[in-house]
Amino acid sequence: MLYSGPAFSATALGDGIVELKFDLSGESVNKLNQAALRDFDAATQAIAKDGGVKGVVVTSGKSVFIVGADVTEFGALFAAGEEAIAQYVLDINRMLCRFEDLSVPTVCAINGICLGGGLELALACDYRVMSTAASAGFPEVKLGIFPGFGGSARMPRVIGVDNAIEWIATGADKKPDVALKEGAVDAVVEPEKLRDAALALLRQAIAGKLDWKAKRAEKLGPVKLNGIEQMMAFTSAMAVVGGKAGPNYPAPMLAIRNMQEGATKGRDEALAIEAKYFAKAAVTPQANALVGLFMADQAVKKASGSWAKKSAREIKQAAVLGAGIMGGGIAYQSAVKGTPIIMKDIRPEALDLGMGEAGKLLSKQVEKGRITAEQMSTTLSRIRPTLNYGDFKDVDIIIEAVVENPKVKKAVFAELEGLVRDDAIIASNTSTISITYLAEGLKRPQNFVGMHFFNPVHMMPLVEVIRGKQSADAAVAATVALAQKMGKTPIVVNDCPGFLVNRVLFPYFAGFHLLLRDGADFTAVDKAMERFGWPMGPAYLMDVVGMDTAVHAAGVMAEGFPDRMKPEFENTTSVLVAKGRYGQKNGKGYYSYAPDKKGKPKKSPDPETYEIIKGVVAARREFAPEEIVERCMVPMVNEMARCLEDKIVATPAEADMALIYGIGFPPFRGGACRYVEQMGAARFVETAKKYASLGKLYEPPKLLTDMAASGRKFFG
Ligand SMILES: NC(=O)c1ccc[n+]([C@@H]2O[C@H](COP(=O)([O-])OP(=O)(O)OC[C@H]3O[C@@H](n4cnc5c(N)ncnc54)[C@H](O)[C@@H]3O)[C@@H](O)[C@H]2O)c1
Repeated sequence: MLYSGPAFSATALGDGIVELKFDLSGESVNKLNQAALRDFDAATQAIAKDGGVKGVVVTSGKSVFIVGADVTEFGALFAAGEEAIAQYVLDINRMLCRFEDLSVPTVCAINGICLGGGLELALACDYRVMSTAASAGFPEVKLGIFPGFGGSARMPRVIGVDNAIEWIATGADKKPDVALKEGAVDAVVEPEKLRDAALALLRQAIAGKLDWKAKRAEKLGPVKLNGIEQMMAFTSAMAVVGGKAGPNYPAPMLAIRNMQEGATKGRDEALAIEAKYFAKAAVTPQANALVGLFMADQAVKKASGSWAKKSAREIKQAAVLGAGIMGGGIAYQSAVKGTPIIMKDIRPEALDLGMGEAGKLLSKQVEKGRITAEQMSTTLSRIRPTLNYGDFKDVDIIIEAVVENPKVKKAVFAELEGLVRDDAIIASNTSTISITYLAEGLKRPQNFVGMHFFNPVHMMPLVEVIRGKQSADAAVAATVALAQKMGKTPIVVNDCPGFLVNRVLFPYFAGFHLLLRDGADFTAVDKAMERFGWPMGPAYLMDVVGMDTAVHAAGVMAEGFPDRMKPEFENTTSVLVAKGRYGQKNGKGYYSYAPDKKGKPKKSPDPETYEIIKGVVAARREFAPEEIVERCMVPMVNEMARCLEDKIVATPAEADMALIYGIGFPPFRGGACRYVEQMGAARFVETAKKYASLGKLYEPPKLLTDMAASGRKFFG
């Protein structure tokens, strides 16, 4: 053996061929952390020193090839500042160049997932052979950065400028056929033939039957396009990518500018340019937020994974009560992910509607070729619509999604408890009503939990699993496991009115109502909040949620938190609802809706809205977009901090993910806690104080004032 380290080993296979194998010890996958990179370099130097080596094949000892760099190291690295970051990637690049410059041909065998830094290592080889079971890509833009281990310098030289921009700016995973067609790899073979194929290619290169030196030289020189071609390629890419990414996601544009600047240079200069731009991307608040989000997502998965592990039983048969918007969606999602479900309603027409919606969603999948007609009918057969409780004895969990009325819900639960097995879980999809309160009067409150889905169920990733005072861990664990099986991201929260997400959403709506009361135009508020990054502003969101639903929920929240959520004035939403404007569902909310060419509701401002609300709003005046943002965000952030104080949610990471997955909080801002983190708690508290006259929702809670005083942070 030429070399053996904790990550890489170099073994002579005979005939001068060396296998450089990556098998990171103590890990299930290969990732390029700093230690692994140093090990790679040591192995390279051992190979370089051995005069007998004629060629190198790079392989993986895991089922993946390399999943990329180690994201957990990014936080500390990126905090070191632009200069240090650029130096760091230059050091890594020196290692990769040392490998690329070996005096013998190199081939890598890509057996599985090959992402980010993994693909960059593969690009440092002369040839790449890929298994049909593998995939490759540069997902870095999803973290607010772009390939910085030579990937953005080598890729345009290997597959051309247009293709390289597409790979790097979209971050999409590529299948082997695409990788081959575009020239990212030189051959694609069945998994069992991969090793032999890579070795055969290497032998051909060693024998001089392949001109590996010429192939390598292409990576070392400038990009092969003349000046005009280059200008056209980069300018048109910037227009397309810039338009798509928008100003909130700067990484793709930085990647392109870097590629353009480096295109006329040789490898080493191009790498220096890459390092400079990479460092610029790495210090953006977007990279900070998106890397934070990646870590938060991992933390959330770990937390729900450990809950699910505690689940002693598998949910084999589910039931849902109510075939409305939510019940229908829950039945569809359960069926799609393989859990049979009984859907019960009291109105036959509701059942028809629920089944019809599921059918429509599945037909679309068939049209797009994602599933076959047979799969569609198998899925539909997993939903059993019914008007009676006939088969409820065999059901493991019943998810209640009837109207948001505690009296109706309590009556339903009382009836249900007598009809189901003693160990059946009853889960309520209530959006606001306390789970502990709903459990009062139940014979088996330990089997009762909240399972709060978001609308539309098939699209929204979050499920809040709510633990009431008496909910047993076993019931929570089984519910978490079911939510995971349904393809959702469950977050376990403790009980209070509105739980986590709605408890922080309603103060945000309160901020919106206060703005309107004081004379802001709702379209201006929407515009400012959409600029801030929300997928839709609060007026539009109110229309989509349903304004009657929102008014009703606001009542529950006011009862739960009268000190700060009890309305002190008549707000615009209530006034509009009183005039029959319920939002998108009846075509009239803050905006009016009419179907567009594709039949989707298209909004337009409606003079009638202004007429209706004029009695409850001050004379129209302009607000600076910053003020609009602050007046909406401060109550939301304050309430989030109160939820942390009250231990409704366990960690800031889970809190942030809940907002991103539940209500589309702008991902590039990382969540409400990350928002405070980036701004600094002291500045946030100062900002909140400016609006003290607007009421208690604007008063920063102790957690935040303490953080402001001590400099303590949410994310260390
Ligand atoms: N719509 C949302 O955006 C949303 C989001 C999250 C949670 N929720 C919650 O989900 C629940 C349902 O909301 P929705 O929007 O689907 O309401 P919906 O009005 O669309 O549907 C409710 C359905 O329940 C049926 N129903 C009433 N009493 C019943 C009973 N005793 N047994 C069986 N079915 C009965 C009704 O016939 C109706 O079809 C509510 O608690 C709501 O707060 C709604």
